[in-house]
Amino acid sequence: MAAFASFHAEAGRKVVLITSGGTKVPLESRTVRFLDNFSSGRRGASSAEYFIDSGYAVIFLHRHRSLYPYTRMFLTINMLDALEFQGGGAPGNTGEVVVNQQVLPNIAKVLKRYEEVKKSRLLLPIEFSTLSEYLHLLKAAAQALSKIGSKAMFYLAAAVSDFYIPASEMPEHKIQSSNGPLQLSMKMVPKILSPLVKEWAPQAFVISFKLETDASILLDKARRALDTYRHQAVVANVLDSRRGYVVVVTLETQAELILTEEDVKNEVEIEERIVIGTDSCYSDPKSSAYQRHIP
Ligand code: PMT
Repeated sequence: MAAFASFHAEAGRKVVLITSGGTKVPLESRTVRFLDNFSSGRRGASSAEYFIDSGYAVIFLHRHRSLYPYTRMFLTINMLDALEFQGGGAPGNTGEVVVNQQVLPNIAKVLKRYEEVKKSRLLLPIEFSTLSEYLHLLKAAAQALSKIGSKAMFYLAAAVSDFYIPASEMPEHKIQSSNGPLQLSMKMVPKILSPLVKEWAPQAFVISFKLETDASILLDKARRALDTYRHQAVVANVLDSRRGYVVVVTLETQAELILTEEDVKNEVEIEERIVIGTDSCYSDPKSSAYQRHIP
């Protein structure tokens, strides 16, 4: 991560670390069961594409098997339905496999872009599964990115568990249902934003996310996070409307980003708006990107 960051910073590029997907919290040391959450990783994966389009190099710290930039568009398709086997009748002729572009719409365009990105080494994927892997890798990433100072951005879209069972309190073997109903006591996960902003990467531009299911407490929680951690922005969203509506809160401003029906028809994604606004705000803090106040 440090080599990737220095390589791109020396080439004059900004580097963003995107966290994406949910975390897994094991209930047993030889894990059979774990607690998880809803996050698909779509926010992180699509934002990675828009950041690359805006000239950034991206470290993509994502949950194993969550959505991934570029391939995310084809995840619901059975690969074997998209391929056709041709020829192969004669002995020694292994035939050819061709892509059915009707089953994989836009595949040529997406593949071309993916190859360009790979060739330019603009995307560094790093995987985590458990909460402890996430915490360890985020700290390592922050320390690697601190070397490029204000050229680094953190875009923390992952849905990280707030609760865990410490290794010392975890049963080694599978919890037995014959012991009756299960009662769990979980410890609080330390809030990582505090050391990230204050110690690990104090010069970086940090955007956190806040998700609630109760819209009436969302903005208050977002503002409280900014007051507590003093980072640059919080993207606030509600579970059910998160694909079409977010509020970006900074210390001085608050702006709604909304997709209209027309946007949805044209397949515009809200992440494009979030990334464009974030980039303007980062490149020029006085920019009007997030200046629209809500009364
Ligand atoms: O993946 P999708 O299905 O597309 O959904 C996207 C999303 C809803 C998950 C995303 O938009 C989002 O809101 N992510 C943050 C969820 C949340 O409420 O996080 P939080 O309140 O637990 O944490 C606040 C911030 O600190 C988050 O940016 C989180 O990534 C970060 N955090 C939290 C705890 C912790 N120990 N470490 C952290 O880095």
